[in-house]
Amino acid sequence: MEAPAAPPRRAETRLTVTSPEQMRELGRRLAGLLRAGDLVMLSGELGAGKTTLTRGLGEGLGVRGAVTSPTFVIARVHPSLNDGPPLVHVDAYRLGGGLDEMEDLDLDVSLPESVVVVEWGEGKVEELTEDRLQVVIHRAVGDTTDEVRQVTLTGLGERWATADLGALSA
Ligand SMILES: Nc1ncnc2c1ncn2[C@@H]1O[C@H](COP(=O)(O)OP(=O)(O)O)[C@@H](O)[C@H]1O
Ligand SMILES: [Mg+2]
Repeated sequence: MEAPAAPPRRAETRLTVTSPEQMRELGRRLAGLLRAGDLVMLSGELGAGKTTLTRGLGEGLGVRGAVTSPTFVIARVHPSLNDGPPLVHVDAYRLGGGLDEMEDLDLDVSLPESVVVVEWGEGKVEELTEDRLQVVIHRAVGDTTDEVRQVTLTGLGERWATADLGALSA
């Protein structure tokens, strides 16, 4: 008897988050999977919860400074409080172009030695390159009081081929 074909390996998981605090907690747990050189793309409309998730990420990574919505700056560097990688938090929501523009930001940090989290507007992720963790946050359209969010995490490229994203829903 032949063994059944293994299902295609896809690092993808879907979660339902029901409060801002839970979103923050998801960020804290996600931080445990991240290491220097990782790129995390967050997409979803304004108010979806991208910054809230990043706040938890910063807590989980143990970096200095509160993660906030950068209004006048496009990117902010949060150095590690221990030996970990710094968090580079980019708000590309208003950026017209791709990540090329990031090179013009002149950040005083090495991106391959950092965890880079980019808040992206909806529908821009396809411009980006191979190895990345893509996080898409959806909210119920039109309902401004609803705290329910659907979060889909997809690991793309070699880096994420064997990642256990399912552990995040535990
Ligand atoms: N489940 C949830 N996850 C994240 N934020 C939520 C949730 N429910 C309500 N909110 C609220 O929605 C807003 C999200 O803001 P923010 O994280 O800045 O979004 P974005 O960065 O995507 O524009 C916050 O005011 C937050 O309190
Ligand atoms: Mg934001």
